[in-house]
Amino acid sequence: MLFKKIYLDNGATTQVDERVLEAMNSYFNKKFGNASSTHDFGRDAKNSLEDARKIIAKSIGAKSGEIYFTSGGTESNNFAIKGIAFANKGKGNHIITTKVEHKCVLNSCKWLEKQGFEVSYLDVDGEGFVDANDLENEIRKETILVSIIHGNNEIGAIQKLEELGKICRENKVYFHTDACQSYTKTGLEVNKQNLDLVTLNSHKIHGPKGVGALYIREGTKIEPWQHGGGQEKDFRSGTENISGIVGFAEAVKIAMDEKHVEQMNFLTKKLIKGVLKIQGTRLNGSMKERLCNNANFSFSKVEGEAIGGYLDQKGICSSTGSACSEMNLEPSYVLKAIGLSDEQANGSLRLTLSRFTTEKEIDYVLKVLPGIIKKLRRFSPL
Ligand SMILES: Cc1ncc(COP(=O)(O)O)c(C=O)c1O
Repeated sequence: MLFKKIYLDNGATTQVDERVLEAMNSYFNKKFGNASSTHDFGRDAKNSLEDARKIIAKSIGAKSGEIYFTSGGTESNNFAIKGIAFANKGKGNHIITTKVEHKCVLNSCKWLEKQGFEVSYLDVDGEGFVDANDLENEIRKETILVSIIHGNNEIGAIQKLEELGKICRENKVYFHTDACQSYTKTGLEVNKQNLDLVTLNSHKIHGPKGVGALYIREGTKIEPWQHGGGQEKDFRSGTENISGIVGFAEAVKIAMDEKHVEQMNFLTKKLIKGVLKIQGTRLNGSMKERLCNNANFSFSKVEGEAIGGYLDQKGICSSTGSACSEMNLEPSYVLKAIGLSDEQANGSLRLTLSRFTTEKEIDYVLKVLPGIIKKLRRFSPL
């Protein structure tokens, strides 16, 4: 019997690293200043804010003046998409995205459709990839923005940003990516990948929740989305969350070590190889261009919810889709987009690792999972 829980739901959120906690600690009750104040406490806060901005800018090859802090991935995606839409109405009203985006991108686009914008939702192939030709064919003279997720939160597919970004650049269309899942796990370089806007957040990389950033290329025409006291050069008002931002930057510094990626890759591959030995199992997404910490399977003749329940009893935390739609029993739209039937989509299980995942934990999962599947199949009405 294991006493420690095995947390394999790092795609939903991660444990805050002790070093991040330590870096944040003094910002609550000692260095608690408001970065807009002109006294000593204010100056201290402002310096910490600008140091954090430099760290995050450097991690994606940006200038620090191009980083705008926000409350997280949802806000950054809303800001990027709505901000570009309203600032560029004069040029056109057409936006391109995909069918496999996070809900905060899809619902921002749905809302824009009600405001008179037109949105094209690109299909993906059986592994979750956007075809560059499809993108090129969809661009028209009214197109103002292309928004394509970098690493998919459900199936881990890593899109070829460089190729897609080149098409956007040649057609003079802004290119945005949601990099919440991929940040620090695979290459993200704004110039190489022709990116104009990038969404980042902290809680997927062992930083605190409620903090993120939007990279906005210098010279981009964008409307601010949150109005108020003029913080973040008047593009994102609201007193800056200094403790959170310091924690975010510390998390980035630690996560940039490539050894973590190697370790997660090794364990994820071991997990995938082991689980695929169970009969009637398929891997959702690609074997190759895949986030180092993501494994997503479909098991025939069983419900993912039931597998998750049994795993939970064994102390293993998993998920059946993205956490934001966990309450929704509809089959996952991402799995449907890659061609799965309702039954296959409902029989899915997502296991997402972190740098704290150990080989012993993976071995334990591989030991208990076959028995759970066997038991469920025995009782399955399917
Ligand atoms: C791909 C992706 N985009 C956006 C978000 C939303 O980020 P946040 O929780 O910081 O608002 C998430 C988190 O679930 C995500 O996985």
